[in-house]
Amino acid sequence: MVFQAVFPVLLATAPLSAAPEQEVDPGTVDPADAIDCRLDVETYGALTMALDGEDGVATGVVPAVNQIELHPRFQQREARAYHARKGIVTQSWSPLGRGGDLLQRPEIVRIADKHGRSTAQVVLAWHLGHGLSVIPKAADAAHMTDNLAATELTLDDADMAAIDALDAADGRIGSDPRTM
Ligand SMILES: NC(=O)c1ccc[n+]([C@@H]2O[C@H](COP(=O)([O-])OP(=O)(O)OC[C@H]3O[C@@H](n4cnc5c(N)ncnc54)[C@H](OP(=O)(O)O)[C@@H]3O)[C@@H](O)[C@H]2O)c1
Repeated sequence: MVFQAVFPVLLATAPLSAAPEQEVDPGTVDPADAIDCRLDVETYGALTMALDGEDGVATGVVPAVNQIELHPRFQQREARAYHARKGIVTQSWSPLGRGGDLLQRPEIVRIADKHGRSTAQVVLAWHLGHGLSVIPKAADAAHMTDNLAATELTLDDADMAAIDALDAADGRIGSDPRTM
């Protein structure tokens, strides 16, 4: 059974321009909103610096959720441990490794065959098994159905350990938020 709930979330994404003031056009944005925007940028910066082991800028705002690149080839153990200490939910983006080679890897195929499931379901079940919030992207309706059924699959300890072993230092496939 799939339970659904809806929560209001204020999303603060990585600031893509060099300076916070470039995010806000004073002619079109209410000053109060501009302050909120700077707060978001500072919060994001504080979190990023905290992950680097620095104190960061103290805003007093702890995010409820941090969405980071995370999949079996890039497992972000240090960030997950930090989130656990702070009570922040880790949300995995590109959880299927963008549907590329990851879904063809022999270790994943072996576990999928063992359970009679798709490789995408195995990868999603691995995320769920680690207590991660996961947001796979699927345009194909069959993929969406496939992915929803991942909630019915529970991997055993050996499966989880085999996928844990796929972590790689060069496994990042997206931009590094510290340098983008
Ligand atoms: N916060 C950030 O900076 C950030 C950065 C990147 C991505 N994201 C978010 O993360 C989410 C997902 O990331 P993503 O799109 O990069 O990668 P992804 O979810 O890891 O992979 C998407 C790819 O996997 C395919 N796929 C989905 N389900 C499948 C299945 N059951 N079997 C086989 N292939 C399947 C999709 O194909 P079809 O589309 O053809 O179904 C698509 O090509 C998105 O919502 C995105 O907005 C956030």
